[in-house]
Amino acid sequence: MNLLKVNQNFVKLPNSYLFVDIAAKVSRFSEQHPETNIIRLGIGDVTRPLPKAVVTAMKKAADEMGEAKTFRGYGPEAGYEFLRAAIAEHDFKRRGVQIDTDEIFVSDGAKSDTGNIGDIFAVDNVVAVCDPVYPVYVDTNVMAGRAGEYDENKGWSKIVYMPCLKENDFLPQLPKERVDIIYLCFPNNPSGVGISRSELKKWVDYAIYNESLILYDAAYEAFITQQDMPHSIYEIDGAKKCAIEFRSFSKTAGFTGTRCAFTVIPKDLIFNNISLNKLWDRRQSTKMNGVSYVVQRGAEAVYTEDGMREVKENIAYYLNNAKIIMDGLKSAGFEVYGGVNSPYVWLKTPNGLSSWEFFDLLLEKTGVVGTPGSGFGINGEGYFRLTSFNTKENTQIAVQRIVESFKAQ
Ligand code: MLT
Repeated sequence: MNLLKVNQNFVKLPNSYLFVDIAAKVSRFSEQHPETNIIRLGIGDVTRPLPKAVVTAMKKAADEMGEAKTFRGYGPEAGYEFLRAAIAEHDFKRRGVQIDTDEIFVSDGAKSDTGNIGDIFAVDNVVAVCDPVYPVYVDTNVMAGRAGEYDENKGWSKIVYMPCLKENDFLPQLPKERVDIIYLCFPNNPSGVGISRSELKKWVDYAIYNESLILYDAAYEAFITQQDMPHSIYEIDGAKKCAIEFRSFSKTAGFTGTRCAFTVIPKDLIFNNISLNKLWDRRQSTKMNGVSYVVQRGAEAVYTEDGMREVKENIAYYLNNAKIIMDGLKSAGFEVYGGVNSPYVWLKTPNGLSSWEFFDLLLEKTGVVGTPGSGFGINGEGYFRLTSFNTKENTQIAVQRIVESFKAQ
């Protein structure tokens, strides 16, 4: 018996993070089948290079860092004013939403922010998540001791699951009971479905009525193609009083390896006379020193004319890949969803296969890697996610292989 005690909440977690499990499985398969050309449509990692405008801005910023006159040390923890101002202008003001720069907190990723935000909330809050769901929301609540005990058939005892089922177009229904914190992600990861303004308004109304908080992950907003879909929850009246929004440059501008994102915490978010904006500022300035100057200059360039044009082209490229996947799979008789306002295609596994059975079969037969729906939650069982983030050439080959292998069935 040691005297040092570990955080027992971590011990309750599944052995490893979903995408780490998949990577290990694929690498075992690849060792056993070195002849197979594996195509990865699993983790949502981009393949298009950074926009040229971003690279140019980062090079210039790197040069500044190499000169005594323009060198910068620690930056402001919540981000440089130049980036926060560009975000406020382009992501919000141009959509008719007023967000002040001190309501924007620049960070290294929406994954970190959605994972860390729990630090400012008490452990006895009741948390609601969609099922299926991006695993970070659940796992970080387990780490915090907010999730209770795990049951294979029911999930975590203290988490309220909101099933996202085919009969409701994979949209969650309002919880019957009052909950404190609600995680929403639209366009959705993993199902790829978007939410309309009127549907999102129901959530804002629920949160205001119940004095709940919505944690809104809008990391995929750049993929929205439908007019009636809000890019920000703050396009809905009242949302500034009940929602925190997470955004990312990862999928929008190819920053998965470069790392830059931001979280919006309106100053109107006051609970028990305490400002969430101030709490998060306190948390961030204690636990992080911000994002590098070079990267923030790169992110700022996303909002230049060239940057916006290049980003648009990249998004169109990925959406076209999504269409290739959707069309191909449909032609082979698959049931497919998402893919129109999202880089993710959500499909029903054929012949009643479980998500992991289909993962193995697909890898074996086609060398294509996807993500088992059950890895996102109990209601993801029997579904499977493919991403459109690979190259067009690889996407076409992958789809062709899937069609040839499964069409006859
Ligand atoms: C995914 O594949 O779900 C994403 O890559 C997750 C993430 O952005 O962390």
